[in-house]
Amino acid sequence: MTEQKIWSGRFREKTASLMESFSTSVFFDQKLFQADIRVNKAWATSLQEIGVYSKSELDKVLYALDQIEREFISGQLTLSDLDEDIHSANERWLTEKIGPLGARIHTGRSRNDQVVTDLKIYLKDHLRKLEDAISHIQNALVQLADQHRRTVLPGFTHLRQAQPISFAHYLLSLFFQLQRDVHRIKETFDRCDVMPLGSGALAGAAFDIDRDKLAQRLGFSRCSENSIDATSDRDFVTEALFVASQVMLHLSRTAEDFIIWSSEPYRYIDIHETYSTGSSMMPQKKNPDSLELIRGKTARVVGDLTVLLNLMKGIPTAYVRDLQEDKEPLFDALEQTTSCCLIMAGVIASLHVDALTMLESLDPALYATDLADYLVRKGEPFRQAHHIVGQIVSYAEKEKKSLSECNLDEFRHYSKLFDRDVLELFDPQNALARRNLKGGTGPKSVAQQLETAKKILDDNQFLFTRPV
Ligand code: ARG
Repeated sequence: MTEQKIWSGRFREKTASLMESFSTSVFFDQKLFQADIRVNKAWATSLQEIGVYSKSELDKVLYALDQIEREFISGQLTLSDLDEDIHSANERWLTEKIGPLGARIHTGRSRNDQVVTDLKIYLKDHLRKLEDAISHIQNALVQLADQHRRTVLPGFTHLRQAQPISFAHYLLSLFFQLQRDVHRIKETFDRCDVMPLGSGALAGAAFDIDRDKLAQRLGFSRCSENSIDATSDRDFVTEALFVASQVMLHLSRTAEDFIIWSSEPYRYIDIHETYSTGSSMMPQKKNPDSLELIRGKTARVVGDLTVLLNLMKGIPTAYVRDLQEDKEPLFDALEQTTSCCLIMAGVIASLHVDALTMLESLDPALYATDLADYLVRKGEPFRQAHHIVGQIVSYAEKEKKSLSECNLDEFRHYSKLFDRDVLELFDPQNALARRNLKGGTGPKSVAQQLETAKKILDDNQFLFTRPV
């Protein structure tokens, strides 16, 4: 291996070995290897267009880059911390293979525009993977919701029984929040779809490269407008980390719901054994570790976002080496979030739902709002109706009976507007059916939501129309 650094000309002293291992990024930025090979091929082709390489020389460069790709993947090429990063490693291998032709590849180029181009290619690819993983959850949600249109459970606010809802309605709430994440991914993808290459270190290459052609070759829809901006900013990284964090926040809350609902006091759902683990000491245990890990990893991904926000806040405009620290949080967040989505999809697809336990747990006090609405329909202003029903709730509590155990006389004691039909209010299916307005928990509304969700799933595949 050549010991000489790509920048060693003006140096008289050898880098301290401590500094070498301190500053290398090659052990994590090798994740950019394939993007970097692609960038090298496209750049070499542009160099041939302006006469830096002849046609046959370009063929040799492309052939050698293919070789490097194969050999790296098969483990024949090894990295060391003498390689400052994956970009210098690729240039070293190329030069070792084809000598001066390799030494010409960096004409007009800086690692500053190279690294940010690689990063955008990596990101576009991984945003697609994340979107795909989310669509697995969305599919699982739609399938489960379809089976549970008429499954009723108490809806909770403040973790206390509030109003009856259909389980499908709850599941679809998760679908629609994830759909906003899909849109955020698409928007972030669009902003990653701007090619920085040709920006050089900061001022732009001093060679007349056709950047539009280069962008097209690399699958970018357009190229950057300003070389300082292109090499300086990492707002697309911060944005991707926010998107990942937001996905994780959604997953984490769902994980929490499922952990609670699968616990002994509830038993609404059962997490399949394939997504549970046992205890080393207590033989009876089946713990929801998949969901707990999702909740735990949310902290980690939000931490990754925090690293980037702090990294960017005080550095001067244009490239500084601090920016090397953007990669580990980005790789970590995208990989963790994508794997959490796949796990959540598996948990949902294998979930056992105990509709009877859900139904039996409904507290008749859940119909208090319906009682107030009943009075409103008979002409009572809502605030008074609320007060009247509140008094009945308090009376029932004092009498140690449930709201549905009160008889008509007891209801009429508080308002003469109550009639025999008031007792029909205590029926969960009736309670749902009263809420068929758009967005409500009624069966017609839920059917509408399901239809919309299925259409969205069909359309999502067209969200990314650009090549990566
Ligand atoms: N490895 C660096 C990074 O990830 C890119 C190299 C730029 N280095 C430099 N000294 N200009 O940001």
